Amino acid sequence: MSNKLWGGRFEEQSEAWVDQFGASIEFDQKLAKEDLLGSLAHVKMLGKCQIIQAEEAEEIRKGLERLFTKLENNQLTFTVSNEDIHLNMEKLLYEEIGEVAGKLHTARSRNDQVATDMHLYLKYQVIAINEVLSELLTTLVNKAEANINVIMPGYTHLQHAQPISLGHHLMAYHSMFQRDLERLEESLKRIDLSPLGSAALAGTTFPIDRYYTAELLGFSDIYANSLDGVSDRDFILEFLSNSSILMMHLSRFCEEIILWTSHEFQFATLTDAFSTGSSIMPQKKNPDMAELIRGKTGRVYGNLFSLLTVLKGLPLAYNKDLQEDKEGMFDTVSTVLQSLKIFNGMLATMTFNEEIMKDATQKDFSNATELADYLATKGIPFRQAHEIVGKLVLDCTKKGIYLQDVSLAEYQAVASVIEADIYKFLASETAVARRNSAGGTGFAEVEKAIAAAKK
Ligand code: ARG
Repeated sequence: MSNKLWGGRFEEQSEAWVDQFGASIEFDQKLAKEDLLGSLAHVKMLGKCQIIQAEEAEEIRKGLERLFTKLENNQLTFTVSNEDIHLNMEKLLYEEIGEVAGKLHTARSRNDQVATDMHLYLKYQVIAINEVLSELLTTLVNKAEANINVIMPGYTHLQHAQPISLGHHLMAYHSMFQRDLERLEESLKRIDLSPLGSAALAGTTFPIDRYYTAELLGFSDIYANSLDGVSDRDFILEFLSNSSILMMHLSRFCEEIILWTSHEFQFATLTDAFSTGSSIMPQKKNPDMAELIRGKTGRVYGNLFSLLTVLKGLPLAYNKDLQEDKEGMFDTVSTVLQSLKIFNGMLATMTFNEEIMKDATQKDFSNATELADYLATKGIPFRQAHEIVGKLVLDCTKKGIYLQDVSLAEYQAVASVIEADIYKFLASETAVARRNSAGGTGFAEVEKAIAAAKK
């Protein structure tokens, strides 16, 4: 007979190399704590519902508590021949308390057990991620507030478009990360559900109390359908999808930091702590951390696509394919947590080169819209105003000058409505200050956005 916990119907021993392929213990030992918590709740319920005797439940509880202490002291050894965290724990419990350990698995399957572990694990990781995300939101608000009056070129197509407040630019990211926080928060509703008691797939003949175990584990509700309870991995997909969007936001910001710290831009400077050097080029100061976060975004997308693909052909209910749900989830949790922490530190210590940023809005045509708007305000249809300014810009580029260098006489020759106040309108401060439509870059609007974010 096989020496496995499930070995009864097997005549032959398994082979180590086959066991190795089927085992998940190398990675699912991350769920050791959750597995013990799930077992503690389950055995308490078995006792309370008189499915096993109160003394037996108590013995098992004590054994599980001892395993908990050993786990915390790094005294548990897991083996591949025991396949996964659930069977390893059960074997360890036998060693701890003997035969009575065999009663723990009454009215339970590894299928609802593993799903319960994953829900518990992810719930607390999402809460942890949102804490770090909140810190990033605070950093962004502080940085934005300190830089409301810093003027920089706003871009479309990575070409100078219109001058904006750096505070406004930073608050755009605040909006993005705020949505990420809300998405994760909202997803908790579906993570915070107990599959325990679904058993293998169909529920159980024992008079279990699923609400009781859910309550003991701190879950808000239970899965309504036992087949769904053991085979649903939507909550992980949602997490991977929300993480992908979050990483995409980080990656876009990183891309800007990489550009801004380049010799061509020189808009921002990273502290040494968040930069690295080159082994050959002594002058180098590279934005490695920003690049790595941008790069790690790829593995998070990969984890999402990997699980989507694992799930797409699965018939109900549990299939061993589902064991493939774990590594991508663990990897995403640690990647997102680390990326957020590093990014937050990098951003908090990054300085902006205000002069260079502002200067970039002087030697360009980002004030062309101001001139067109000026003409439109004086009654010239906007399309016509656009055409007039377009021609002026073309003329300037040929002469190697900018709109603020054109003389009043030259302006009046193309449009008699232009007066001496035009130069005030062409200044980038004015361009920013006047854009006070709701959500615009006007200083007053940015102040409002910051005040709203602080609430
Ligand atoms: N290690 C398995 C997993 O991660 C646990 C569930 C195993 N269930 C089973 N019927 N083989 O999915």
